[in-house]
Amino acid sequence: MCGIVGVLGQHEVAPILVDALRRLEYRGYDSAGIATVNNGKLARRRAVGKLVNLSDLLVHDPLPGKSGIGHTRWATHGAPTTDNAHPHRAGDVAVVHNGIIENYKALRAELAEAGIEPQTETDTETIALLTQHLLSQGKTPVEAAYATLERLDGAFALAFLFDGEEDLMIAARKGSPLAIGHGDDEMYVGSDAFALAPMTDQITYLEEGDSAVLTRTSVEIRDEAGRLVNREKKTIQVDAARVDKGGYKHFMAKEIAEQPSVLSNALSAYVTEHGIALPDPGIDFTKIDRLVMVACGTAYYACFTAKYWFERLAKLPVEVDIASEFRYREPPISKGTAALFVSQSGETADTLAALRYCEGKADKIYSVVNVQESSIARESDLALPIHAGAEIGVASTKAFTCQLNVLLLLALKAAVERGTLSQEELEQILSDLRSLPGTLNAAMDRDADFANVSKKLSEARDVLFLGRGLMYPLAHEGALKLKEISYIHAEAYASGELKHGPIALIDKHVPVVVFAPKDSLFEKTVSNMQEVMARGGRVLLVTDSAGAEAAGAEAWRTITMPQVPEILTPLLYALPAQLLAYHTAVAKGTDVDQPRNLAKSVTVE
Ligand code: F6R
Repeated sequence: MCGIVGVLGQHEVAPILVDALRRLEYRGYDSAGIATVNNGKLARRRAVGKLVNLSDLLVHDPLPGKSGIGHTRWATHGAPTTDNAHPHRAGDVAVVHNGIIENYKALRAELAEAGIEPQTETDTETIALLTQHLLSQGKTPVEAAYATLERLDGAFALAFLFDGEEDLMIAARKGSPLAIGHGDDEMYVGSDAFALAPMTDQITYLEEGDSAVLTRTSVEIRDEAGRLVNREKKTIQVDAARVDKGGYKHFMAKEIAEQPSVLSNALSAYVTEHGIALPDPGIDFTKIDRLVMVACGTAYYACFTAKYWFERLAKLPVEVDIASEFRYREPPISKGTAALFVSQSGETADTLAALRYCEGKADKIYSVVNVQESSIARESDLALPIHAGAEIGVASTKAFTCQLNVLLLLALKAAVERGTLSQEELEQILSDLRSLPGTLNAAMDRDADFANVSKKLSEARDVLFLGRGLMYPLAHEGALKLKEISYIHAEAYASGELKHGPIALIDKHVPVVVFAPKDSLFEKTVSNMQEVMARGGRVLLVTDSAGAEAAGAEAWRTITMPQVPEILTPLLYALPAQLLAYHTAVAKGTDVDQPRNLAKSVTVE
């Protein structure tokens, strides 16, 4: 992953680079660093851990200069140490890199023959070493960088800076996104437009294989074949101020709390008084006989939920798969298959690779994304935005509910087109959906109940989540949320599957969270709960008032949610899944917004 930034500016760049890195910290936060050229001299500062450590270092040891590059790291090759932190430098060149250089060992071996040894464990240092080797053979910085790029296999977004060159930066993109920003006699590069938002809204996205030579007043872009190309300069709408907790203690708390308004906004983008309005040409659900949905993590659980909707409402066979497995299985994809990819960031490497696998095989490629300028959106025949707004907390919350929203609308559209849902039934569901933001708002009142029970959950070593039907994917989402931010081991099981093995885990130390609104499967879930309680298990039942009444007072704890029609329960029960994880993490004192080992955008396989 990692985030990169570069500035050829008119002012001191160190604070500008650090601010841009703060905007990129969602891409990794194991270490950070910057390099500048000042009076022709290349120098760098690097620090392990969060960006604040680099800022502190720069207070004591400032780095002057008006040209610079910066990096925030999510470690792949080599532990998160200062030595392994970027920018990597060899002689006269410094490099920042996002991605993985697959042939770095072969390149290292080649360099070793020339007596050049690496000082770090990273693949990136090899780029700097090779470029410096070529410089020492008499090549110019541009020639050396281009000759190096030709030798690199793998995925990368790169920026090069050179000693003695105050008005030169070289950037390249293959497999990892990179944007160029245009200022007034300034030029920038960044992993995304948001990093550059305080500086400019004039953005050129590099395409696959592109490279660029930048000065303060010019940019020369070449395609993979080395031909000079024109890439469109766009005016991008990015909210420069979005790194704001809005009075909440954590971004995650803010993002959970804003779901009612975000969902309402997302709904109005797709539901008009005339029904569901999707862009044309949309998916023709009468022409396909199968839908394949592929994603990772939380986005995968959104797909998993949608499988229930598509199959139940539209009688459409659906396969869901996690992206990292999908393409290596080499699944047969026929023309009667629509392929749908769901991704908040739109940059997840595995999901993008799965999408590319389906290109030319599936009827069409569709995606459901939060970032409209992302690679996944740009490579789809049709990209449907979820309208969640920027999600900063690493654990996905509002993006999940907004993904569910779009997927439900698609399932409803499919059902109407395939004749399995009447217009009347559709109108009823849409009317229920319109009142859902209000219901979600009311459900936020349970926040204190979730905070209360979470104090107990925070003492557990293991937690199980159970659900049936539409609540089964939700149980998975609850377990994922809990483990990623509280570091408590959590597993999800289909309620009925428990007795086939996992019930052996039950004792009084393992809390069992059961998501069970009083739906058509409720009685069966209650029986499974009884099986848990009979073995001393402590059940936290999250249900509605009818469910609470029917279940009686046997559960360890019961939290009562508002009543919604069964088909909409996943959108409401996302909230308990999130609140339990959030409050448990707060009780444990973990880093809620930036949990250890994770990054928001996973651009490596
Ligand atoms: C979990 C979480 C991750 C992401 C996954 C996919 O809270 O956020 O599991 O859902 O990494 O990311 P996107 O949706 O950007 O493809």
